[in-house]
Amino acid sequence: MALEIAPSIMAADTAKLGEECETLEAAGADRVHWDIMDGTFVPNLTFGPDVVKACRKYSNLRFEAHLMVADPDKCFLSYIEAGCDSIMIHVETCPHLHKSLTAIADAGASPGVALNPHTPAVAIAEVLSLVDTVLVMTVNPGFGGQNYIASVEPKIAQIKRMIDAVDHRIDLEVDGGIKLETAVGAVTAGANLLVAGTAIFKHPTGPANAIASLRESVQHE
Ligand code: DX5
Ligand code: ZN
Repeated sequence: MALEIAPSIMAADTAKLGEECETLEAAGADRVHWDIMDGTFVPNLTFGPDVVKACRKYSNLRFEAHLMVADPDKCFLSYIEAGCDSIMIHVETCPHLHKSLTAIADAGASPGVALNPHTPAVAIAEVLSLVDTVLVMTVNPGFGGQNYIASVEPKIAQIKRMIDAVDHRIDLEVDGGIKLETAVGAVTAGANLLVAGTAIFKHPTGPANAIASLRESVQHE
């Protein structure tokens, strides 16, 4: 599966998010990753649907919303209406995960399920038939710029084996601390979609070079 890169817009200059979306498209990004935080499931607070909607006209890239919120059922629809193509919800926040993922698909978006570092792979086994993406957190969610947790890699490999046994395409996405030095471990374990915030927006020569070097760093895996 071709490697894709989804820059986390949370690490961009938030005073000019629209322009940053344009920059990402010109820089060769495959998607824009929106980290949505509600101050409850995670301590940080980020973007409401109006912000996403305002940026939608600046880019044709796929928008994916990573909902780090206590009650995703309450808000996922407003992010779809804002222009998000895919919605990722955390298994830790969804007592009725099957129902929530089905509702996302019924609303016309691509459903994805996310897992925190401590959550075992088996927690998503019964919903793989419903999702297009599994998002494995390689940091504890809440903030950008944290260190990659390499001990998650066996779980990435385990989920890759589970995905390979399913008869439809599922992207295996990793999120947190992804940079040149860590991407190779995640890709070797089976990831094909990399979220990166700091590594892309704080790169000394800009997002285009950052994206190109990330692709280069894993091209032989
Ligand atoms: C963590 C977010 C990540 C993170 C990525 O809560 O889901 O998307 O901000 O940022 P870096 O690449 O800086 O770890
Ligand atoms: Zn994220």
